[in-house]
Amino acid sequence: MRSTRPSKRGSRDARRTAAARAASAAPLSVVILAAGEGKRMKSARPKVLQPLAGRPLLKHVIDTAHTLGPSAIQVVYGHGGERVRAALKDEPVSWTLQAERLGTGHAVLQAMQHIPDGHLVLVLYGDVPLIGRAQLAQLLALAGPRRVSLLTMRADDPAGYGRIVRSARGLVQRIVEQKDATEAQLAIRECNTGVLACPAQRLRGWLARVKPDNSQGEYYLTDVIAMAVKEKIAVQPLIAPRISEVLGVNDQAQLAELEAVWRARCARELLLEGVTLADPARLDVRGLVSHGTDVFIDVNVVLEGRVVLGDRVRLGAGCVIRNSEIGADTEVFPHCVIDGALIGPGCNIGPFARFRPAATLGSGVHIGNFVEVKNSQLGAGSKANHLAYLGDARLGERVNIGAGTIVANYDGANKHTTVIEDDVHTGSNSVLVAPITVGAGATIAAGSTVTHAVPAGKLTVARARQATIEGWRRPVKNKK
Ligand code: UD1
Ligand code: CA
Repeated sequence: MRSTRPSKRGSRDARRTAAARAASAAPLSVVILAAGEGKRMKSARPKVLQPLAGRPLLKHVIDTAHTLGPSAIQVVYGHGGERVRAALKDEPVSWTLQAERLGTGHAVLQAMQHIPDGHLVLVLYGDVPLIGRAQLAQLLALAGPRRVSLLTMRADDPAGYGRIVRSARGLVQRIVEQKDATEAQLAIRECNTGVLACPAQRLRGWLARVKPDNSQGEYYLTDVIAMAVKEKIAVQPLIAPRISEVLGVNDQAQLAELEAVWRARCARELLLEGVTLADPARLDVRGLVSHGTDVFIDVNVVLEGRVVLGDRVRLGAGCVIRNSEIGADTEVFPHCVIDGALIGPGCNIGPFARFRPAATLGSGVHIGNFVEVKNSQLGAGSKANHLAYLGDARLGERVNIGAGTIVANYDGANKHTTVIEDDVHTGSNSVLVAPITVGAGATIAAGSTVTHAVPAGKLTVARARQATIEGWRRPVKNKK
């Protein structure tokens, strides 16, 4: 089994990075700025809660920060703050309120109250979600007690970004914001990503001296670079090798672009691991996928949460699969929704089948079109090929559920269990009113509504008898 989830390598990396850092450097505090309003998103939802690949933007950044093995993660929140905190209340981070949005320097300063002098501080942004562990580890390695490291990027269109001003010898001198830049500075292509690493004691001192004497009247974090240079503290730039990792989200168009970046990354990993994709641009992975060999995924499939696909599994077009496991050699035909199911090997599913949580299928089970399965077990070789509902049912092996069979599990107040033993056949359009047990080998006649136990090995009919009325005449219209 191979697993795919780009840039989320988890605890092993965290331990490795933490160990490498502990050997060489100061403890790490990560500050994530998330106080922005995000007006341009034109959404009632705070920007950092907008979902990317099914997770809030801020959650991506927190997850990545964790892989660096920090001592603490400080999230600076502001606008819509209570919603942000509530949505991410289980995250092991500290929250600092920035009551007034006075600029990035002011925001970092709020978090500095909780960060000891001996720490190295890494500043990240809640709206730059795809920043990767490798790039950050590289940046941290460049920082030290007398060194600030700064992540920059070469932008084709630098509009809106702070520009990196270098000396004739190529040393970083300072950062100039777009709104404060001269004509010559505006032509600089190297831009500030905003991400930097800096020793805490120095950062605290510099931030305390930052003044809002700029065109926006804000306390700029970026002003600390010139302060460092003045104090002969080296500024080590790192030009981001992968620009997609430092792109921010300001509007829905940028959010969609990053979703496409994520999609392409996931698809590429799966392809390189041997999965066949009908179209890498039409698969969405919003979680963690594990898979065996020779798996085939057709177009427009969405995989969410933890999805496990056995060897030679085939997923048809348009399937949505969430937190489910699918056994080897199972084929899922197009347009199935599978949520919280455990599907055995060699099954045929769909098209147009729906699984709700706690559906468990043995091997060789067939579930056909317009069949819904909820909290039910189906033993090996059982079939429900057309138009059926199985809820809270325990089916044995080789059971055949006829078209239109409904397990009536709900009496309007409580849900009850239906037991259907091995080799039962239910006729078309039968209703099994729970709680009820259908004995092994029983046959239920088509159109029956059974409300009492059905004995094993016999035919049970529970419908009005067919009668034919001799001599009956069809009425005819009266003549006028
Ligand atoms: C900032 C940088 C700029 C850089 C750009 C990269 C400064 C002064 N400028 O500009 O050099 O090129 O990011 O995207 O730092 N925030 C707060 N509280 C505040 C202000 C901002 O938490 O008081 C947060 C925002 O939510 C956002 C981040 O800080 O996540 C950046 O703020 P923003 O106003 O977008 O800065 P830019 O003008 O884009
Ligand atoms: Ca911005």
